[in-house]
Amino acid sequence: MSVVKRMTAAEVEAAAKMFESQSPQEVLRWGLQQFSPRIGLASSFGAEDVALIDMLAARHRDVTIFTLDTGRLNEETYEVMERIRRHYGISIKSYFPNFERVQALERGKGFYSFRESVENRKECCGIRKVEPLGRALAELDAWITGLRRTQAVTRGGVPKIEVDAAHDGMVKLNPLADWSETQVWDYIKAHRVPYHALHDQGYPSIGCAPCTRAIQPGEDVRAGRWWWERPDQKECGLHLNPPKPS
Ligand code: ADX
Ligand code: SF4
Repeated sequence: MSVVKRMTAAEVEAAAKMFESQSPQEVLRWGLQQFSPRIGLASSFGAEDVALIDMLAARHRDVTIFTLDTGRLNEETYEVMERIRRHYGISIKSYFPNFERVQALERGKGFYSFRESVENRKECCGIRKVEPLGRALAELDAWITGLRRTQAVTRGGVPKIEVDAAHDGMVKLNPLADWSETQVWDYIKAHRVPYHALHDQGYPSIGCAPCTRAIQPGEDVRAGRWWWERPDQKECGLHLNPPKPS
């Protein structure tokens, strides 16, 4: 049985301070040094995540790349997953929702219950994303995400390294926290990283097919996610660390 590794809040804060001005690659190198092989990248195969996969695949193989296959993803998401899998010769660990919970949800509330209320939407995300994420994280001591501060009003305070209180105090790395969307795309183009086809069709942020649509020029990058909800409600439960008091 593997020994679980935890860092104290003070250690993590010191690391976050030290790495605040450093590159995503430096943050990844530190994370891998500390936690390999019990470290994994959560990937939905959006622009940020494919850039991170490229950074990891170039130098570090001792990392899990996992995805939450909600069962409601766009066809283009499966296509880019397969392209990335072949391009880098990596395996992608998919986690599927508990089929009995999905069946009960669909049989009880139909196939679009998430459109009816925020509560129903969170129930669906809970079954299709949050519970499988818990299973994925139970095998790790640290996880890596593509969160960026300018993505949403809910993400302005994202640190590069943090303790994930919502997941048993494990460490969470957000190496792209201070990157702009332009920096992400400059990286993708410079390194010829395979990317999601829907990005060229007006989708800057991509989640499940029925909960994501293209945005209009000038709209917020996450305007197409759960577009019927208020911006301050648009988190699905994957990223729940309570904000620190300022
Ligand atoms: S979400 O919480 O609103 O769905 P978003 O799509 O912005 O999140 O993605 C933020 C980060 O969450 C991604 O960079 C990735 O690390 C993680 N993530 C989101 N969706 C998934 C998924 N289906 N599988 C694995 N990781 C995901
Ligand atoms: Fe369900 Fe939509 Fe959440 Fe996907 S994004 S899990 S379909 S509510």
